[in-house]
Amino acid sequence: MGGAQGVVGTATYEAPPNIALVKYWGARDAALVLPYNSSVSVSLAGMRSRTRVRFDTALREDRVALDGSPAVGGPRASVVAMLDLVRAEAGLTARAEVVSANNFPTASGLASSASGFAALAGAASAAAGLRLTARALSRLARRGSGSASRSIFGGFVLWRAGARPDGSDCYARPLRDEGHWPALRDVVALIADAPRKSVRSAAAMQASVRTSPGYARRLEELPARLGAIVRAIERRDASRLFPAVMEECDSFRGVCETTTPPLDYLTAASRAVLAEVRAINRDAGEPIAAYTHDAGAHVHVFTLARHRAEVRRRLRALPGVRATLVVRPGPGARRVDRPAASVRRAAGARRRAR
Ligand code: DP6
Repeated sequence: MGGAQGVVGTATYEAPPNIALVKYWGARDAALVLPYNSSVSVSLAGMRSRTRVRFDTALREDRVALDGSPAVGGPRASVVAMLDLVRAEAGLTARAEVVSANNFPTASGLASSASGFAALAGAASAAAGLRLTARALSRLARRGSGSASRSIFGGFVLWRAGARPDGSDCYARPLRDEGHWPALRDVVALIADAPRKSVRSAAAMQASVRTSPGYARRLEELPARLGAIVRAIERRDASRLFPAVMEECDSFRGVCETTTPPLDYLTAASRAVLAEVRAINRDAGEPIAAYTHDAGAHVHVFTLARHRAEVRRRLRALPGVRATLVVRPGPGARRVDRPAASVRRAAGARRRAR
């Protein structure tokens, strides 16, 4: 950076959390974050991480603030590792200031690592002057947190496992955008006293790969289940999607429970939500709701707009459910600190006309 002093570049990105319909659980290469299986998710509207990155030659070390407090230990190291990847690619040595905040509780099982690393990858690469394609951005976000590769895109997203050892074919792509299925709702049952996540999923899942006797069988079953889930999304077919989503969640939970030592992310209240969803479907005589959860205690219950009030009423009546949020599929990561492209085009046209 030939003697230049001061700010190299600044950028701010927002990115959504996502809930996996087909789970990423196990890496064939943990350093490069290359999964054994492809996964599918929905990006969530209304929740976001917002991250500003400023590269500045006057900084003596990277400064990282997460939700208003200086980051230390593992969380800080993960952010610095992402900055190092960006610096290497951009040929930059400047340190950075990173300020990131979520508009939902961090590490609560609402996937803050996905939204956080998607926003960080976007802001850091833009601040460093890299002009990455969405695919390259997905690959970069993946290195911070696997699930973050999917939060680059809105709507329904597929993260393909790929086969190459260098990870060049391992990135997410949009299946259908957030407007594809207007009636679909995710009723999030927020569990009271949900324990804070203490171990990153990236570490926990490798214990499952090593020790769960059901892991290999899960991998064998997945291609058929993933195909059924993708087809049901494309056709907006809730009667096929909902049972497959619950089967996948049960498979994921089964592998966790048979890991040594066992991984149990649910509380009694979470389990009561799963049982209530089964009861709702029994009472309806057809699958009108589907539960799923990630590595946390909160439970996402997919349903259709016309059943939303009923599903919500029944979940709220359960002791241990603190509140419910009704969420739709939402947009992906985007830069928020500069005028939208359409505005800039209009301004350029005015200048040319003068
Ligand atoms: C159960 O890639 O989010 O949510 O960043 O280490 O927490 P960490 O790992 P991450 O693991 C995702 C696990 C999952 C399933 C999924 O989102 O596909």
